[in-house]
Amino acid sequence: MSTPKPRPGVMNVAPYVGGLHSVDGVKDVIVLASNETPLGPSEHAMRAYEKAARELHRYPDGHATDLRATLGRRFGCDKERIVCGAGSDEVIQLLIRAYSGPGDEVLYSRHGFSIYRIFATGVGATAVAAPEKVLTADVDALLSKVTERTRLVFLANPNNPTGSYLPDSEIQRLRDNLPDDVLLVIDAAYAEYVNRNDYSAGIEMVDRHDNVVMTRTFSKIYGLAAVRLGWAYCPAAVADVLNRLRGPFNVNEPAQRAGIAALEDTKHIEESQAHNAKWLPWLATALGGLGLTAHPSVGNFLLAQFPDVKSAESAYDYLLTQGIITRKLGSYDLPDSLRITVGLESELRALTDALARHLGRS
Ligand SMILES: Cc1ncc(COP(=O)(O)O)c(C=O)c1O
Repeated sequence: MSTPKPRPGVMNVAPYVGGLHSVDGVKDVIVLASNETPLGPSEHAMRAYEKAARELHRYPDGHATDLRATLGRRFGCDKERIVCGAGSDEVIQLLIRAYSGPGDEVLYSRHGFSIYRIFATGVGATAVAAPEKVLTADVDALLSKVTERTRLVFLANPNNPTGSYLPDSEIQRLRDNLPDDVLLVIDAAYAEYVNRNDYSAGIEMVDRHDNVVMTRTFSKIYGLAAVRLGWAYCPAAVADVLNRLRGPFNVNEPAQRAGIAALEDTKHIEESQAHNAKWLPWLATALGGLGLTAHPSVGNFLLAQFPDVKSAESAYDYLLTQGIITRKLGSYDLPDSLRITVGLESELRALTDALARHLGRS
């Protein structure tokens, strides 16, 4: 008997495994697993969201007109070339659906954000991973993997879960050596946290080239992960393609209103940046003091490498018993490491105290 069959590739997808938000039997957990901001959403964003509740019977603005105008002003972008989505995940999926399919290749770097591989596999394309140098994307290795089948190259900058980044000059070199019909997608989900002079999120590069797209999210520094809001800055032809493919009302109105308010709350953004600038190095030093390798990170998280897989796993399990949730990285082929988000001071102290107890260093 024949049964309905999905398109090629769908059943090859290993579904995305997200971070935990609860532990059985533990009332107050410390969640350091999903790179969410510990400072919560902006008060202004919460108020805008609550106000939008009174209009829940209305369809949202399907063009996200005010949100795109605010983004355009805030980032110096052409609002006509901004496409919003339900999280940057949706925008990334739209790009993959629009530009690749069976027989095509989607290139990413070995420990790059896992969603690229998942979505590429789901449309029947082949996800191709290029080797890295010291957990950092390697432009030469990426270029060496380009074939006539390559349709898209994804680069998370900074990258999740490694925390590493490429300077602007390297991204430019990557783009300059790609064929013109290959789309380079710079995923700058953590751009707001980066405080390096040689970094740029990619806006100018999008303005200069017809084959570069930048994606951004409201899930990290803006503290709006729950409402699902992201955007892409694109060449005009790419924006046109995405607008044909996306759902007509893909971004809900409360999300649009909260997003605008969050963008305008520069005080909240600056507080988040200052918090991260202080506690990211503190966490790296504290983990180093416990004998772990804290890989350099420019995001709001870091990769803590243990001496071996067993010790990473037992630390993860012990932390869970203490109500502290970190992220295991077996699916990234980094089973000897845990990814830890920069939380509140009290949360980070609880984490390092627990690790010290577990490692017999207290
Ligand atoms: C590099 C990177 N890109 C994209 C996303 C997806 O973010 P969103 O919540 O906007 O879908 C994440 C989320 O963790 C991420 O780390």
